[in-house]
Amino acid sequence: MESTIEFIEGKVKDFKPEIGIILGSGLGELADEYCDKAVSYTEIPGFISSTVKGHKGRLVFAEISGKKVVMMQGRNHFYEGHTMQEITYPVKVLKKLGVETLILTNAAGAVNETYKPSDLMIIKDHINCMGTNPLIGPNDDTLGERFPDMSEVYKKDLREVAKKCAKDLSLDIKEGVYLANSGPCYETPSEIHMARMFGADAVGMSTVPEAIVANYCGMRVLGISCISNAASSANGDSLSHAEVIDTTGKAKGKFKSLIIKIIENL
Ligand code: HPA
Repeated sequence: MESTIEFIEGKVKDFKPEIGIILGSGLGELADEYCDKAVSYTEIPGFISSTVKGHKGRLVFAEISGKKVVMMQGRNHFYEGHTMQEITYPVKVLKKLGVETLILTNAAGAVNETYKPSDLMIIKDHINCMGTNPLIGPNDDTLGERFPDMSEVYKKDLREVAKKCAKDLSLDIKEGVYLANSGPCYETPSEIHMARMFGADAVGMSTVPEAIVANYCGMRVLGISCISNAASSANGDSLSHAEVIDTTGKAKGKFKSLIIKIIENL
């Protein structure tokens, strides 16, 4: 960890980020537009480089609305074969760099039948169906407790800020429960039926490990999903990654304006 921090701090002297953002599939453009300094994951000791199409793989530092922000343009996923510890390592790094508020974003399938592709959803809570947990293993007491509380991972006050910002921008916004599966398969119709019965509104393959670790480390978390598709349904419609990227591409304008507005109001 020390070599990672030393390396990054050496690259961005005197830049202490207070806000972190992890940009999901097709949502990375924010980091192209606001980029004072970028460091590729391949250069950073301890980081793994992103292999998924639509994910760039760099840490981007920028001052946005007077706030110091670090963005992860692309994330690593459990389904790529990395361990839970590997995919959540950057979250611990962001904490050590000084990040207090972490905004997690993703593309997700709609489980709630009233949601439409390109809707934005504030994550109210999550359900971890990944079959494992990033905190398994010896506990680092300097970061957090052995048995961390998860009663309000996605902070209510941050969700209220996000809702108010959406309203100011005249954006329709949902608020719902995100269920994470390991992937890489999309779900079967029966799995979506189960997710719905569990109380989920959206389904995806990321975010939950990062949210668990961030909350454990004492960071304030906000989560925003871009609904990219109707999750697999009984009507036999098939789903592809291209469709996911295509829809997030259509929603990225409003997604970006919402994130910028939220940063302004944090
Ligand atoms: N399921 C799981 N992950 C996803 C989906 C989906 O339908 N859409 C985008 N990520």
